[in-house]
Amino acid sequence: MDISKKNTMTRTFGGDISQDNFSLTSSDGRILLQDTYLIEKLAHFNRERIPERVVHAKGWGAHGEFILTHDMSKYTLAKIFTCVGKKTEMLARFSTVAGGRESSDTARDPRGFALKFYTDDGILDIVGNNTPVFFIRDPIKFPDFIHSQKKNPVNNLIDYNAQWDFLSLTPESLNQVTILFSDQGTPYGFRFMDGFGTDTFTWYNAKGEYFFVKYHFISEQGLKNFTAEEAERVGGENPDFSGKDLFTSIEKGDFPSWVMKVQIMTPEQAKTYRFDPFDTTKTWYEEDFPLIEVGKFTLNRNPKNFFNEIEQAAFCPANMVPGIGPSQDKMLQGRMFAYSDTQRHRLGTNFQRIVVNMPKSPVFNYQVDGHLANNTDNPINYFPNSMQPVYFNPVSEEPPQPIIGVIDRHIVEIKDIDFVQPGDRYRAFNDEEKEHLISNICASLKNAEKRIQYRQCALFYKADKDYGTRVANCLSLNLAQVARLSKMNDAERAYATR
Ligand code: HEM
Repeated sequence: MDISKKNTMTRTFGGDISQDNFSLTSSDGRILLQDTYLIEKLAHFNRERIPERVVHAKGWGAHGEFILTHDMSKYTLAKIFTCVGKKTEMLARFSTVAGGRESSDTARDPRGFALKFYTDDGILDIVGNNTPVFFIRDPIKFPDFIHSQKKNPVNNLIDYNAQWDFLSLTPESLNQVTILFSDQGTPYGFRFMDGFGTDTFTWYNAKGEYFFVKYHFISEQGLKNFTAEEAERVGGENPDFSGKDLFTSIEKGDFPSWVMKVQIMTPEQAKTYRFDPFDTTKTWYEEDFPLIEVGKFTLNRNPKNFFNEIEQAAFCPANMVPGIGPSQDKMLQGRMFAYSDTQRHRLGTNFQRIVVNMPKSPVFNYQVDGHLANNTDNPINYFPNSMQPVYFNPVSEEPPQPIIGVIDRHIVEIKDIDFVQPGDRYRAFNDEEKEHLISNICASLKNAEKRIQYRQCALFYKADKDYGTRVANCLSLNLAQVARLSKMNDAERAYATR
């Protein structure tokens, strides 16, 4: 195309524009309604922002490639994991959770670790975090959890009472709280953190056998965290620090990479494991289920347009390919609804037709129309029909699995086992790490009401006496009272600290 023609400025419908500096006015400056170009320009500008993600609003991403290094066909028939040497295009988006789109990316928060693989069989999304566990184990608590961690509805300020009130009334959060308030809660940047699928998925093989699986992504850059002081200073100087670090390293050709590993559990092992393996507040012990290497992904291409390729990216844990399925992990069950639902609201009905969300493999179904539809020229829009052949893939469904029990709002009681992993985690920290953890907790918890401080401190004490004692001392709490509260059950403790 002739360059001068290519750069001739036009209206969005293609008509040429005589100039772009002056509105069409009367001599005294009144603008005419017939300046539809001005109207189009302002109206488009007015709609440039789309709703930000309800969580994980602040994020960055890059494109890359996954290469399979180990054959997983013993466990799954997913082609991406069965043909050694196979390369699959992918996209990663890293994010903070609670802050808005313009918040600082050095804030204390888990980091989102969302991966999109454009496989031969459609899109596989693994939408994880940089922590192997989560705060809650039932999706019904998710909106409350997020409300408590985001801004106060009255004054739009951070509400420490709400944050710690919810956490202290949700003892199963303690494992994740212990990670979050260590320096792992303020990673140096996205390149220097591991990723975890956290939820439990199912893999099934060509023989119809199925296995439960957890995903791990180990950073080849190593782990690097900020201390609280560093995070605060760096975030003040540049709230986009982690995004810039990712972008510039890729721009320089210093491509970050992660090794993918999995833990595999058989259905038989799941029945007798020492705790509920589908509980997202706990990790499966690596001595029980060692990490098995699968492959490696490398991020090697920055987006050409952030809005198109990152802001509009839509990840969903329900996007799975044949060979992979969900499990009875309740959080995953809830998440499988939530993501596409919010994306229909955030991006529109046809969000899967935005280029970054489109599979590289063929798409064929009879879903038509809706906002921003780009219908095919297929004259048939219903099934069954006798006009054209339609094929189905029998292995796209998981093998039948037994289902047991009764339908009920099954209560998961807080048990002593819930305090084992946070206690182990605390004891595994060295002296300096423990010191940072205690001071990071106190810097935040001191802003909550005393009764909430007591309730939360009792949980630390229950996990490990030294852990609870040090937080209590730091907040000048009465240790005997903390110890008393730690022995109560949840309802008693909640009542005593009402
Ligand atoms: C029941 C619990 C959960 C619900 C209901 C939920 C819901 C959501 C929603 C609505 C979004 C916004 C999606 C969008 O606008 O595109 C989101 C984003 C995200 N969630 Fe969750 N979430 C849950 C738990 C989790 C857990 C356990 C993890 C990690 C292990 C996680 C990781 C992420 C990530 C990484 C994103 C950002 C994806 C991106 O980069 O676009 N979420 N979540």
